[in-house]
Amino acid sequence: MVKLTGYRKIKTAIFISGTGSNLKSLIKFSKTKKSPISINLIISNNFKAKGLKLGKINKIRKKVFNFKKQHKIENQILFILKKNKINMICLAGFMKILSKNFITRFKGKILNIHPSLLPKYKGLNTHQRVLENNEKYSGCTVHFVNSKLDSGKIILQKKVKISKNETKHSLAKKILVQEHKLYPRAILKTFNL
Ligand code: GRF
Repeated sequence: MVKLTGYRKIKTAIFISGTGSNLKSLIKFSKTKKSPISINLIISNNFKAKGLKLGKINKIRKKVFNFKKQHKIENQILFILKKNKINMICLAGFMKILSKNFITRFKGKILNIHPSLLPKYKGLNTHQRVLENNEKYSGCTVHFVNSKLDSGKIILQKKVKISKNETKHSLAKKILVQEHKLYPRAILKTFNL
């Protein structure tokens, strides 16, 4: 668990792979007085990730890595995190699975958001699988990251009702709106705020 020291905000890195709408909501949150975190670094595995633009707009340092040689890259990332005094990581639509070694180095300090009501529907294509199984509800989960995919301790969840003519796109959109609210709330909870 990350501890708050005095009034200084916890330096946080956000890992993204795509649009970065969760990154956007986290940046907004980090600028509020009540936020225990500041966002100091954006890491991506995708040079074309739309979300990287948010780095420039908000003057946040960003680094992009080709994850082909993941072991080597993770060591480089660990070095950069240390150099920037990063003490917390939020995965936000980050599509790579971090190694056990990496996770151990940041034990209890990595959060992830997943678009399902975990432990149901871990992994990819969640919305499609949820609809195929005729579920009545889906939702999103913020959890701590451990070495098993989408399996760490759950911090918060939000349930949404599936409509009659729901498609995977409409469901993704509906859940994303909730994700943007849930992630900041989960961060506050992590700090007992
Ligand atoms: C979100 O639904 C997140 O839960 C999932 O990927 C999506 C990323 O969206 N892991 P964005 O890049 O934050 O807009």
